[in-house]
Amino acid sequence: MRLVVAAVLRRGDRVLACRRTRPEALAGLWEFPGGKVEPGEAPEDALVRELAEELGVNVRLGTELVAAQGMWPISTELAMRVWWAETEGEPVAGESHDLVRWVGRGEFGELEWVPADVAIAALVADSLTG
Ligand code: CDP
Repeated sequence: MRLVVAAVLRRGDRVLACRRTRPEALAGLWEFPGGKVEPGEAPEDALVRELAEELGVNVRLGTELVAAQGMWPISTELAMRVWWAETEGEPVAGESHDLVRWVGRGEFGELEWVPADVAIAALVADSLTG
């Protein structure tokens, strides 16, 4: 099982949603940004690295959003761990995304999330006010 890590970047009552450009099956769908942990890499380090690479921001990780099953299932080969995070920088879409958007809970329904992020988005929406 390969580990994927993702961040829910929070700023007040909004969080960052990113629209994927690839692969074709996921292009146009929204996700919490992240990526695969490299062999020998600590998950938290991988997450900080991925957000620097993909969005050009330095992030500070907060607590983990723990799934009922322990990890968030993606596929038979992939499972995901997710952390709250903050940044002072302004995220900018790189090659992995064509749009980034700060969204409040009222806007979550407008976004079509990648399948694995639907349950995460529901948990996040519950913990945002406004
Ligand atoms: O960039 P890298 O190849 O490291 O990773 P990625 O393509 O961003 O993520 C690997 C896989 O994890 C993707 O193909 C998605 O299936 C999945 N993923 C997800 O379901 N939800 C996320 N928030 C992030 C990744």
